[in-house]
Amino acid sequence: MSKNTDELFKNVIAHAKEYGFVFPSSEIYDGLSAVYDYGQFGAELKNNLKTYWWKAMVQMNQNIVGIDSAIFMHPKIWEASGHVGGFSDPMIDNKDSNKRYRADQLLEDKIARYDKDGKTDKAELLQKDLDDALKADDLTRLRDLIIEHEIADPISGTRNWTDVRQFNLMFSTQMGAIADDADKVYLRPETAQGIFVNYLNVQKSGRMKIPFGIAQIGKAFRNEVIARQFIIRMREFEQMEMQFFVRPGTQKEWFEQWKTARLKWHLALGIDAAKYRYHEHTKLAHYADAAFDIEFEFPFGFKEVEGIHSRTDFDLSQHQKFSGKKLQYFDPELDEAGKPYGNYIPYVIETSIGLDRMFLLTLISAYEEEDLSTEERQDSRTVLHLHPCLAPVKAAIFPLTKKDGLPEKAREIMESLQLDFNLQYEEKDAIGKRYRRQDAIGTPFCITVDHQTLEDNTVTLRHRDSMQQERVPADQLDKIIGDLVSW
Ligand code: GAP
Repeated sequence: MSKNTDELFKNVIAHAKEYGFVFPSSEIYDGLSAVYDYGQFGAELKNNLKTYWWKAMVQMNQNIVGIDSAIFMHPKIWEASGHVGGFSDPMIDNKDSNKRYRADQLLEDKIARYDKDGKTDKAELLQKDLDDALKADDLTRLRDLIIEHEIADPISGTRNWTDVRQFNLMFSTQMGAIADDADKVYLRPETAQGIFVNYLNVQKSGRMKIPFGIAQIGKAFRNEVIARQFIIRMREFEQMEMQFFVRPGTQKEWFEQWKTARLKWHLALGIDAAKYRYHEHTKLAHYADAAFDIEFEFPFGFKEVEGIHSRTDFDLSQHQKFSGKKLQYFDPELDEAGKPYGNYIPYVIETSIGLDRMFLLTLISAYEEEDLSTEERQDSRTVLHLHPCLAPVKAAIFPLTKKDGLPEKAREIMESLQLDFNLQYEEKDAIGKRYRRQDAIGTPFCITVDHQTLEDNTVTLRHRDSMQQERVPADQLDKIIGDLVSW
């Protein structure tokens, strides 16, 4: 990260806290690592992002329905999905500092250092060795590479490392009063399994015909060992996932459709297309036959925001095997055509986006420290150019002064609008200061009520991005705001 981008990122984090978007969790108790809370404006922005996703996936597609499954699920589900056996990171401890690290991350950092120092040959060689070791699940080799490349603990400075061990990322707890291993349940590490285990219920109760999708938004939990970069890698986070069930043999076509549709969804927010790229997975998980990430260029580099995965029939087949319940689909169209495979386990295309990463991407893209200086005077503002549909507050209403009946008139106008829009009323400080506060939270409109309003019922409407002001009749505000902020 260059000094400028580093500073920009720090400023965005500070801004998010100062203006009520994101707070460190449990802050008065010195915080809880890799856990964050969303404040009053953060919660609104997050809700608006959820609405944008839900509308695009569920409301706009007649063959996609949404569910809300429980976080606790039968523990066997995580055996069937492969999470109990395989959802782990290779960890190594430094014996002097007692600090634990992800072995692959230490090696990735070393590769980045080689690159930075112009030692590209070394970087390429180590990358290849690391890829081979990970592919072969060779934990001894990972440790050997750490020793060979003289990687020292940043805290103790020593190279006194333990062996590399696998560390499962699932949180577990006990269900019921008696602590017994049989009552062990997990906090879900992804929302997707809640969809798979409800596949039959939804298909039957909704009389869904293949192809169809099931979407859900919800919390997921992972005991991430390396938690960095603010809300990029959290231990409690939120996913928006959709599983699209298709006829075997058609998955490639659907995969391409969803890959394109999902990038379009991102770009429709008006964010610079050059900041996005696809990343194809070359090392596929054993159950996948294609996987692409949608990556965004954060100040610290490109990072995955969303994954589009072709998961074959792996998950439903596993649940059929572990539960003993038939999860096949009877395809009437295939049966009518006289084709032999009227019964099959559907294939699945998954789209999985991290809501918190989407939130950060939105905030960073919207954030601007704008220089407004003129020859006469120095001036600046910090503004969030949020898409109006995503803005936490749609309009702020200001009486010019606190007297002459202006507050009463301003409140009257607010009451006529607040059922439709999230509004803020402010009467403290000079108007200029009030504008700045609204710019900082991304409010698209500011409405000022002055003495002329009492005479002709017009107000001053100020636009966030252009800072232009115009005089409009108060009874047209509903339409003006509605046109801009409705989906
Ligand atoms: N069901 C597939 C699945 O969970 P994933 O790539 O592990 O796939 C999907 O996660 C998305 O969830 C990622 O693209 C990322 O945006 C988000 N995500 C994953 N781990 C996260 C974490 N620890 N903190 C915040 N977001 C995370």
